[in-house]
Amino acid sequence: MSECPIIWVLGGPGSGKGTQCDRIVAKYNFEHLSTGDLLRAEVASQSEIGSQLSAIMKEGKLVPNEIVLSLLHNAMKKSAGKAKGYLIDGYPREKDQGAAFEKAIAPVNLILYFDCSNETLVKRIMARAAAAAEKRADDNEETVKTRIETFRSNTNLVLEGYPKVLSTINAEREVDAIFKDCCDAIDKVLK
Ligand code: AP5
Repeated sequence: MSECPIIWVLGGPGSGKGTQCDRIVAKYNFEHLSTGDLLRAEVASQSEIGSQLSAIMKEGKLVPNEIVLSLLHNAMKKSAGKAKGYLIDGYPREKDQGAAFEKAIAPVNLILYFDCSNETLVKRIMARAAAAAEKRADDNEETVKTRIETFRSNTNLVLEGYPKVLSTINAEREVDAIFKDCCDAIDKVLK
């Protein structure tokens, strides 16, 4: 067991990664780093790199890994020595990202993978978009379709690389039932 476990939180767009991470943080006080949030903050900063990222994200494609990994690594360094654990939400999204993370940072201790049908993913994202005061630039039907395609064409290859630490969770259920499975998986790692 790692004293500061590293947990990758994976699943399609709208599978509930952010929702479950909020619950996990409230219970375990882990550091939650969402690559989507880090990238959106970079876009909001109006840096030159931010405008390139914005175009890629609006299309629902993956941004270059060196940018994501560097944002992630810098964020992790800020809480190094203080964090009780890391929830890395939305990374890795393809095989090479996983290898690059483990080489540059540390091995992963647990992968929480939220398994969800395309139909549910679309339904949840469109409901979020309809309810939001400020709609995300990539929360529209066309981009959601590409986001799901990007996710489906890369994720299995990531998951296949880590059978010993993979916990696949049925994410079609109620938030509480999913959270219970997350806690069971995390508690095993903390033992
Ligand atoms: P990112 O921001 O990570 O978006 P995503 O993966 O598409 O996921 P979401 O944030 O939309 O959904 P979620 O799974 O967190 O679900 P949530 O809890 O919000 O990435 C955005 C973009 O950034 C990518 O497309 C890519 O361009 C780029 N990017 C990010 N990481 C990258 C990387 N590693 N490499 C390259 N590019 C990268 O829930 C959604 C909705 O459903 C909410 O309204 C919620 O209330 C509801 N809900 C949640 N759970 C349930 C439930 N059990 N039942 C009913 N409703 C539920």
